Amino acid sequence: MTMQTLALYNLKGGVGKTAAAVNMACLAAASGLHTLLFDLDAQGAASWYLEAEETAAKARKLIDGSTPVGRLVQPTAFERLSLIPADFSFRSLDVLMKKADRPRQVLSRLLKPFSEQYQLVVLDCPPTISHLAEAIFEASDLILVPVVPTHLSVRALEQLREYFRSKNLDETKLKPFYSMVDRRRHLHNELLDHPPPAMAGACRTSIPYSSMVERMGEYRAPLATYAPGLHVANLAYDALWKEAQRSLKRLQQPD
Ligand SMILES: Nc1ncnc2c1ncn2[C@@H]1O[C@H](COP(=O)(O)OP(=O)(O)OP(=O)(O)O)[C@@H](O)[C@H]1O
Ligand SMILES: [Mg+2]
Repeated sequence: MTMQTLALYNLKGGVGKTAAAVNMACLAAASGLHTLLFDLDAQGAASWYLEAEETAAKARKLIDGSTPVGRLVQPTAFERLSLIPADFSFRSLDVLMKKADRPRQVLSRLLKPFSEQYQLVVLDCPPTISHLAEAIFEASDLILVPVVPTHLSVRALEQLREYFRSKNLDETKLKPFYSMVDRRRHLHNELLDHPPPAMAGACRTSIPYSSMVERMGEYRAPLATYAPGLHVANLAYDALWKEAQRSLKRLQQPD
């Protein structure tokens, strides 16, 4: 099986990218896949949840090749799950990629050495749309976009789709899903029951708003380690991962 790359991406901040990236990477590893989570966000939230050791990873050295990316990989407490933690210098990844040779290819090139070792790479992305984002779009087989059911979030998704079209990028890679869904809210119900055109091809699974997810910060651990197996949020991430896995399989074997 060849390595596949799954990104959790949205230009909008605070929509549940990191929560999904960490939980799905853990579920993937638990299901038997050798998984690498790459924390591309200088905030380092995913790295923090997974209790990463501090590294001297400098974005500039990573991009110019003087630090081999393999040297940055750390094991985690979870079998088959490795991590490339973020460093605060990752905030300059965007500018560095702009200056690099063939900016769109930079991330694909960085990930290439892992193809023998890992079956899945999960990218936790910062909320940005520029050179780093384009490199992410290029390197990813599937881009899951968490969308909070509000008009502004749907508009952000429309803007993302327009960006893809204007740059001639492969829009079929985009797969939105509703995130932080609160069924007590009228607008959430409205948008879930009548999805707008931008949600075409969306995941059937949505992630509920749940204080159990927020508590990842308290436990500093993925949901599955502390939440009851049958908790709605646990079940939702599991279903989302299975949907993503099916999409990745389809992408791998077209027709
Ligand atoms: N399903 C959920 N229910 C309740 N709270 C959630 C849920 N998902 C995420 N959160 C909380 O919302 C906040 C933002 O989530 P998260 O960090 O996953 O978003 P993000 O899109 O990665 O943000 P950023 O753009 O800053 O990287 C966190 O405090 C997290 O605990
Ligand atoms: Mg995040």
